[in-house]
Amino acid sequence: MADFKGKDILDGAQFTRNELDHVLDVADYMRKQVKERRALDLMDGYVLGTLFFEPSTRTRLSFETAMHRLGGSVVGFASAGTSSSAKGESLADTIRNVDQYVDVIAMRHPKIGSAREAAQAAEAPVINGGDGAGQHPTQALLDLFTIQSERGQVDGNTIVLCGDLKYGRTVHSGVEVYKHFACKLIFVAPEALTMPPEITARLKDQGVEIEETTDLEAAMAEADVLYMTRIQKERFEDPAEYERLKGSYILTRDMVERINPDLTIMHPLPRVDEITTDVDTLPGAAYFRQAQNGVYTRMALIALVTGEI
Ligand code: CP
Repeated sequence: MADFKGKDILDGAQFTRNELDHVLDVADYMRKQVKERRALDLMDGYVLGTLFFEPSTRTRLSFETAMHRLGGSVVGFASAGTSSSAKGESLADTIRNVDQYVDVIAMRHPKIGSAREAAQAAEAPVINGGDGAGQHPTQALLDLFTIQSERGQVDGNTIVLCGDLKYGRTVHSGVEVYKHFACKLIFVAPEALTMPPEITARLKDQGVEIEETTDLEAAMAEADVLYMTRIQKERFEDPAEYERLKGSYILTRDMVERINPDLTIMHPLPRVDEITTDVDTLPGAAYFRQAQNGVYTRMALIALVTGEI
């Protein structure tokens, strides 16, 4: 049995296959409890701190929903501007203070490595809700749970990751969990936004089957799962470069119906223009179910790191 008690959740690469299977099992249990409207009190007496120094809809609200559904309480802030970091307080000092109030910390911050820095300052487990263009491990776990839910199992699927693979933290953490399964990965990106070569090379060394292409339609034809991502405007130093690359890949209903109607379509959201809205009603359009799975996965993680399950 995997033991998560007291552990920080910082990086997609930290998990073993055994731990991933355990998270999937606990998330599935949480989903059943919620669907059957069973009141849970696992987190009664616990407080979650949600410290979001960067905008979020899904990650913050699903963490908060998860804690409420587990019977616990939540405190936090939704932007750096409403915390004392706006007065110059260091991240370490903010974390040391919040650590006096709460039992678990979920944090998002624009700086790569900030979650690890927070974990060093806190006694409480820190869960990384996204650190710049670095990692977003809870998204990777909910994506894994979604693939299992939509396809029946993770093993055996060909997963196409498309869009901004350079700056997209969801794909950086996603590949670190997919590598434990018998999946083929196809990376589709403009030349300027490919997966960082050091990540691709390391995964190949670890035996992961990877193809890289700029041709989305060819990749779709052999895919089971298509994971679209947004071009990460906020990470570009040169606005002209963003303007050049935005809209590089746009998935339409016609493309899905013509090329591969059985495709499971995922997106971490928010979307800008990567998927036209007429795709939303296709049976394989899983992105809103994917967002719902964020609650079950984060319920699992909160209960696991506190040792209450
Ligand atoms: N998927 C995701 O991280 O969404 P938010 O930015 O809304 O949290």
